[in-house]
Amino acid sequence: MNDHRQWAREAIRIIEADFQRSADTHLIPLPLPGFPEVELYFKDESSHPTGSLKHRLARSLFLYALCNGWLRPGAPVIEASSGSTAISEAYFARLLGLPFIAVVPATTSQEKIAQIAFYGGQSHLVNDPTQLYAESERLARETGGHFMDQFTYAERATDWRANNNIAESIFTQMRFERHPEPAWLISSPGTGGTTATLGRYVRYRQHATRVLCADAERSVFFDSYTSGDRSLLLDCGSRIEGIGRPRVEASFLPQVIDAMIKVPDALSLAAMHYLAERLGRRVGGSSGTNLIGALMAARQMRAAGEEGSIVAILCDGGDRYATTYYDQDWLVAQGYQLPGLIAAVTACVERGEALPETVLRAGI
Ligand SMILES: Cc1ncc(COP(=O)(O)O)c(C=O)c1O
Repeated sequence: MNDHRQWAREAIRIIEADFQRSADTHLIPLPLPGFPEVELYFKDESSHPTGSLKHRLARSLFLYALCNGWLRPGAPVIEASSGSTAISEAYFARLLGLPFIAVVPATTSQEKIAQIAFYGGQSHLVNDPTQLYAESERLARETGGHFMDQFTYAERATDWRANNNIAESIFTQMRFERHPEPAWLISSPGTGGTTATLGRYVRYRQHATRVLCADAERSVFFDSYTSGDRSLLLDCGSRIEGIGRPRVEASFLPQVIDAMIKVPDALSLAAMHYLAERLGRRVGGSSGTNLIGALMAARQMRAAGEEGSIVAILCDGGDRYATTYYDQDWLVAQGYQLPGLIAAVTACVERGEALPETVLRAGI
């Protein structure tokens, strides 16, 4: 066996050993007093070692790249990221002793940049979020490194049939619940990879479960879903870190999505604050977006006379956003007025009332 093959073999062993030492993430019930016929759960991906659902993706991307022969000892790994993926990839790069460079928007929270550094990664800040990819390619060329490119490879690097992917984990954990087969799974798109895994898995396992994808305000995914146009572009980045993109990413697979909504950012942040209050700990903005998705699904189930369960993704914890989403002065400076919206989310959860009409819907 040549030296490179030997190195890759040892690298894969190290990642598999790390996986073996890891536990699964929790599934947390969140009662909805306004919808007694619905049981809602949050899949708590914040409990991964690197704090987000991107831990699964980073592991898959490293294994995919190693098995493809794309990584070399000493050659940097480069990634375009809104921060969460970079934190997780920095963790795996350090496990393998590889240099890691994260290409992140300049608006990325300081807490995330500090975590990338904690795992030994460097952050390369980019002012124009639409230039993340071009900058990553340039850095890979100039350093002789490998651009991981989560936005292209997320859907194919993840083993969607099984291997304890997020979908298989959810269905296993739901086994002894009152409604083991969820009526809806709720996810929000960054790469679109998590949604793709959920959608493919429920089809492969022949479940009746539907997948609802909840997009952010400054993003093209929803409009692409409704129009079929994959060439849509925006000239600004999303304000909900981790989700919403200015272009339709290759990993976004509309055919496996049953319904989509587009949630105004202020409503996502209001739902995030409500959820943090209910859980007794902070969560990230995209978990708020997913709570809105779950509430839309609950209202749809009520209208259809259905009872059953819903599982939404809790994508990351909120400590990363202490100086942004959880800072009152920051919220005011950004023009967010959340109290009325938090009251609306509370009224929906507690009494089943309608959410503001500002949520755009397709297929639900
Ligand atoms: C906090 C957070 N939530 C949600 C997502 C979306 O996940 P996916 O990329 O699988 O669509 C991401 C992706 O970066 C994220 O960082």
